[in-house]
Amino acid sequence: MRRVNRDQKTRVSLTLNGRKLSAEAEPRMLLSDFLRHALGATGTHVGCEHGVCGCCTVLIDGVASRSCLTLAMQADGREVTTVESLAGPDGQLNALQRAFRNNHALQCGFCTPGILMSFTDFLKRNPSPSEAEVVEVLSGHICRCTGYSGIVAAVLEAAKSSEHIKTQAGGPT
Ligand code: FES
Ligand code: FES
Repeated sequence: MRRVNRDQKTRVSLTLNGRKLSAEAEPRMLLSDFLRHALGATGTHVGCEHGVCGCCTVLIDGVASRSCLTLAMQADGREVTTVESLAGPDGQLNALQRAFRNNHALQCGFCTPGILMSFTDFLKRNPSPSEAEVVEVLSGHICRCTGYSGIVAAVLEAAKSSEHIKTQAGGPT
């Protein structure tokens, strides 16, 4: 069996929010750390680092994924979309972000980037969800400030909005 040198760095190239970027990563480096420390995309938050809290959720090729359970090397050649893609170039919030603000769906906001990315993916696949479906998706996220009812209301409001949930990535969302 071929042995991998744990410290040998490899170049990882990906498309982040529509921009082609690359940086060096050790084989064991997590995608969450790669985004934050190698690419400076600190909007993605890290909580438990073992797949439970959902803070680190990003889209990989348009699908919501835990970046703490993904190696940076696994994202090589893929499209990664993070919370930084949601607002417009002038900082204008998208429909989902506005619904969060309207419904007081964030308190400290630590969990918010991951929740926004999960629901960006979810609303694309299910634009008219029931409350139970929203609650089921939200069960994959832990909010330490316990603001769940506001989050559910925000997602249902965004779903009713006529505006499609957009990202600035240009690629699949
Ligand atoms: S930091 Fe990834 S799920 Fe908690
Ligand atoms: S708003 Fe504070 S952890 Fe969710």
